Amino acid sequence: MSAASIDPEDLLARLDRFPRVALCQVPTPIEAMPRLTARLNGPALFVKRDDLTGLAFGGNKLRKLEYLLGEAIARGADCVVTGGVPQSNHVRQTAAACAKLGLDCHAMAMAGRVRKASEAYITSGNVLITHLTGATLHEATWSGERNAELHALAERLAEAGRTPYVVPYGGSNALGALGAVHCAVELMQQLRAKEMDIAAMVHCSGSGGTQAGLAVGLAALAPEIKLIGFDIDAEPDRVAADVRRIAQETAALLGLDGHLDANTIDVRAGYAGPAYGVMARETLEAIQLGATSEALMTDPVYSGKGLAGLIGLVRAGVFSKSDRLLFLHTSGTPGLFAYAPELISMVPPG
Ligand SMILES: Cc1ncc(COP(=O)(O)O)c(C=O)c1O
Repeated sequence: MSAASIDPEDLLARLDRFPRVALCQVPTPIEAMPRLTARLNGPALFVKRDDLTGLAFGGNKLRKLEYLLGEAIARGADCVVTGGVPQSNHVRQTAAACAKLGLDCHAMAMAGRVRKASEAYITSGNVLITHLTGATLHEATWSGERNAELHALAERLAEAGRTPYVVPYGGSNALGALGAVHCAVELMQQLRAKEMDIAAMVHCSGSGGTQAGLAVGLAALAPEIKLIGFDIDAEPDRVAADVRRIAQETAALLGLDGHLDANTIDVRAGYAGPAYGVMARETLEAIQLGATSEALMTDPVYSGKGLAGLIGLVRAGVFSKSDRLLFLHTSGTPGLFAYAPELISMVPPG
């Protein structure tokens, strides 16, 4: 049996033990989606707008970076190394945060994970913003080993006399996940102030840190809220294993091991499409439904797949009409421009 719930203030006090830099505009709004609710004729749908965290088009990664770069500064780092696919939202947000904090950013673009990359994919969206922040760009080939190239680059920088700090792929480790724990605290404070309860929170899951932190936060504060992460990597077993491992490490950091049963962490398959970075029919439908009913912009790689998962749950009748469901919008919207050629060809002008 798990321990009794704790107060948000208690959890905030535990989070305060870690160095943190302020990067996000918080609290992010919670908005009703009445037109999407009506079109799906199901439970009442809401969205928490973590796409509006601010810096350089926002997103969930800024929450992780508050803790990761807090540690980088506390350790006296003079540069930051991170990496991801060329269209990485995480790299864009890290590069933006480094520019804001006056830290040199070394960004490793790993090509080859997304096959058939178009010209827009390699020049627009996140790539463009990362470039504009002044990050030093490095290139590698995707090998499936996400962090080895980053550590090798950090070693080369250290040999050249620098003091690098490695932000892992996706910002996903226990320290980064503290940002998502903070999101759970913020959510509970908002729900309490609005006297609102929700049956479930839904979002997309990739490198796992976001769901891990949310799982730890909700397990401690409100275990009755169901948390569902939709795999967007087309690797649901790997995603689930990473979320569980990071959640256990995060709970240990905060002294919350007694609250978390990692076996109950819910990562679902079925909405990733054929591969990472490739749209499914459901992704396109979700992007269109969000845009045409709520002017909610989601992207082909992350939030569009998460929204497709939410739509799938509603259609499957898993929740009753009296329930409230919350979609966590993690951003990724610059990716819309990287996929413009595909989107335009799939959605001809009306
Ligand atoms: C826009 C967006 N949403 C969600 C995620 C998934 O978060 P996590 O990697 O913490 O699982 C990512 C990860 O890159 C992302 O860029």
